[in-house]
Amino acid sequence: MALKFTLAAAALASTAIASNTTGPFTLHITGRTDKSIDGYAGACHSGAAMEGLCYVEGPVDESSNYNQFYFDYGSYSPDTGEVYQPGWLSWLLHYTDPSGEPATQPSPLEFYPSWGSNVAVGQFSPSESWTSIGFVEDTMKLYMPGGYDDSSFNETYPNPVQTQGNLMNWHLCYQFTGGYYYRSISWVFTNPPQNPSCEPVDLTLELVTY
Ligand SMILES: *[C@@H]1O[C@H](CO)[C@@H](O)[C@H](O)[C@H]1NC(C)=O
Ligand SMILES: *[C@@H]1O[C@H](CO)[C@@H](O)[C@H](O)[C@H]1NC(C)=O
Repeated sequence: MALKFTLAAAALASTAIASNTTGPFTLHITGRTDKSIDGYAGACHSGAAMEGLCYVEGPVDESSNYNQFYFDYGSYSPDTGEVYQPGWLSWLLHYTDPSGEPATQPSPLEFYPSWGSNVAVGQFSPSESWTSIGFVEDTMKLYMPGGYDDSSFNETYPNPVQTQGNLMNWHLCYQFTGGYYYRSISWVFTNPPQNPSCEPVDLTLELVTY
């Protein structure tokens, strides 16, 4: 779905190419209501070549690959240098290739719904799919682009369909993240989250400056 969206956006801007990677960034996690939540995201092993976004308390080692993330603009025009949002977040997977050489593979972030809950856990994997994410230019806070708000729909065609703005339903939850029980980042579709341990948080990109 995200891939289709990007291809459509690329088709509209005739000269745009697939994407443009910026960073690395650390990802600051701050509680919206629980102000004791003030830490950073760390990539944590959740399965074969997969990682969740786990909570690391306090200051973080920004030189560590596990604490560095990238923002990929959905499309980029080589003619004008313009980049277009939304895009996606990625992490660089380090591995050893078949000849024994160290190698890296960009791993986009995707949110995986659980059909029995309204909480979707975020995981990185070296795949071609991702969840569309943007950031607000002046605050660097991450959001998901809004869709239509169906909460007042009835049999009458809604004209115009109301679109929600940027959504920021990021939560920090104790939850299964792949095969492990971690405190990690999720997306909550509608409030309140079914998982009572989920705390609303903001996610802010901070450019690594060393
Ligand atoms: C990404 O965008 C920058 C300008 O914003 C440009 O200099 C760079 O070449 C682009 N990289 C790719 C891979 O398109
Ligand atoms: C259906 O929704 C419209 C607004 O979109 C409203 O004007 C109308 O009164 C609603 N109809 C009923 C039966 O509630």
